[in-house]
Amino acid sequence: MNILASLQQNKMIPEKYKQLEKAELEARVLEHKRKYGSRLFIPGHHYQKDEVIQFADSSGDSLKLAQLSAENTEAEFIVFCGVHFMAETADILTTKNQKVFLPDMRAGCSMADMADIYQTESAWKTLQAKFGDTILPLTYVNSTAAIKAFVGTNGGATVTSSNAESMLTWAFKQKERILFLPDQHLGRNTAVNLGISLEEMALWDPNSDTLEYNGDPMKIKVILWKGHCSVHENFTVQNIADIRKDYPEMNIIVHPECRREVVELSDQSGSTSYIIDAIERAKSGSSWAIGTEMNLVNRLIKNHPDKNIISLNPHMCPCLTMNRIDLPHLVWCLDSLSSGLEQNIIEVSEDIAHQAKLALERMLLINN
Ligand code: 13P
Ligand code: SF4
Repeated sequence: MNILASLQQNKMIPEKYKQLEKAELEARVLEHKRKYGSRLFIPGHHYQKDEVIQFADSSGDSLKLAQLSAENTEAEFIVFCGVHFMAETADILTTKNQKVFLPDMRAGCSMADMADIYQTESAWKTLQAKFGDTILPLTYVNSTAAIKAFVGTNGGATVTSSNAESMLTWAFKQKERILFLPDQHLGRNTAVNLGISLEEMALWDPNSDTLEYNGDPMKIKVILWKGHCSVHENFTVQNIADIRKDYPEMNIIVHPECRREVVELSDQSGSTSYIIDAIERAKSGSSWAIGTEMNLVNRLIKNHPDKNIISLNPHMCPCLTMNRIDLPHLVWCLDSLSSGLEQNIIEVSEDIAHQAKLALERMLLINN
């Protein structure tokens, strides 16, 4: 079900929740957690606000959250503090008896919205005609369940930012070319790390239905979907130049959703968990400029007062859609659950879920 259809089926948050005091909201979450015990599981992505993540039973990057969803067969209710595609993934990987909720149905992902299933099927048709049966599709988990199902049906798998290299290596054992959806930057950064040159990569533009490349098309190994993260695109080469000039002692660490030039000029790149681990392991007194979402950067600043941490881009904002999950929405979701209303359920249709699960399970098997 798309976000619009989900929205139409679900009411918006009643105004009264926005008037409640923080202490009252927090007390209500604790009350629900006590009442439900292990029947309720609250996973939270690292980009969630502090006011929400404090109540998460587990926090993690996309891979860890997918693994947790697959492992947890006990919780009847999973209130997912993250974005829509993550809650869909949780629904696909959990059993029929478990229900997944997203506290605010407007918590989508602009990157996932950059590839729809009709565009993907149209691209596939054109690419099959051009290259024959030589292509394996891989999709970043930041994609709709329908895209995951398409990938699963065609023998491919999902990837996350923490396993993209091993997944691409696996994919090249199956076919000679890869179609990588929907994040061109993660795809390009990963392929370069594996020694694939930029000349061996092409860009599929879903809006014009065209393949952009220089040189011999038969040498193309990776076809990148022209999508990106609107948050990570805000880190620029100029930001790096400014840091290098003003703070030459700074280590620069970025998420691989950043553009190639930014990743290339940084000292390190990796998933949200990789960034957290790097900061935790770093020496006291060390300096870090971080290129990722602001809720996470602010949390790292707060948790590591002995280290000098700043955002790579001084004008960076949090991810707008991750931020839609706030304390009032979490309480509203739990209250509705408790009163039997069960609003904001994320339910992927059985046929899509079955195919999408193939893609997710191929990834989880390789990353066990
Ligand atoms: P990871 O937490 O897997 O690095 O993903 C980042 C992201 O953008 C999630 O939307
Ligand atoms: Fe999507 Fe980017 Fe926000 Fe992650 S940070 S949820 S990729 S828009």
